[in-house]
Amino acid sequence: MFLSKLRQNWLLIACHCVGLLPLAGLLPAWRAIDPVKALTQHTGEWGLNLLVASLAITPLYWLSGWKALPKLRKWLGLYGFFWVCGHLLVYIGLAQAWDWQAMVWVALKKQPYIQVGVLAFVLLLPLALTSSDGWKARLRKDWKRLHQLVYAIIPLSDLHYYWAKSSKLNTSRPMLFAVIILALLLIRLPAVRVRAAKIGNQIQNWRRSRKNK
Ligand code: HEM
Repeated sequence: MFLSKLRQNWLLIACHCVGLLPLAGLLPAWRAIDPVKALTQHTGEWGLNLLVASLAITPLYWLSGWKALPKLRKWLGLYGFFWVCGHLLVYIGLAQAWDWQAMVWVALKKQPYIQVGVLAFVLLLPLALTSSDGWKARLRKDWKRLHQLVYAIIPLSDLHYYWAKSSKLNTSRPMLFAVIILALLLIRLPAVRVRAAKIGNQIQNWRRSRKNK
């Protein structure tokens, strides 16, 4: 009974493990020479990784036809949100020591990359709050429209990442993310999507014919 449940849900279990994996990096980050910086970077990078992973689920589903995949989209997005909340908490609580006045002045007036981060977070908040099936049923078409905000949130998050790194002339990772995000957005254009679906069908037919041999 337990083993069969495990076999049925292994992908979802793996998804929860990936979402919680960054917990393992918290202690080493805390013990780093600059723990606040290490924690900000660790939580920020995992937040973005998981948000991008959730954006990749739909194209992967079109290509593979794997019915278990769409279930993961919500969880990856929620884990992404969870780590972004941790990122924000580290910044407000540890980096700025809850000094709201200094935070608003220095961060918002002098550091535009913080403004972009705040904008991405504010846009992400309603998506996380309405991610349940109950809200999906209540909002119907508006739910889909609201959740299309993710197409702005993820590029904004990467812009924030790029900007945070640009002063240190270390932009190769945010640039790589930009290419991946652009590809994941372009594949959603109707003309590209039709081609992707066709390629997906060919892959699935090929897999079926191999299975029947
Ligand atoms: C969706 C929202 C956000 C995402 C995905 C995100 C992600 C990231 C990433 C990936 C980095 C670069 C980490 C690195 O250097 O390796 C970063 C840096 C940073 N973020 Fe965010 N962030 C978000 C929102 C915010 C907000 C709202 C704040 C503060 C109000 C913030 C404050 C910072 C700071 C201070 C850094 C620089 C860390 C350093 O000194 O290197 N972020 N963020």
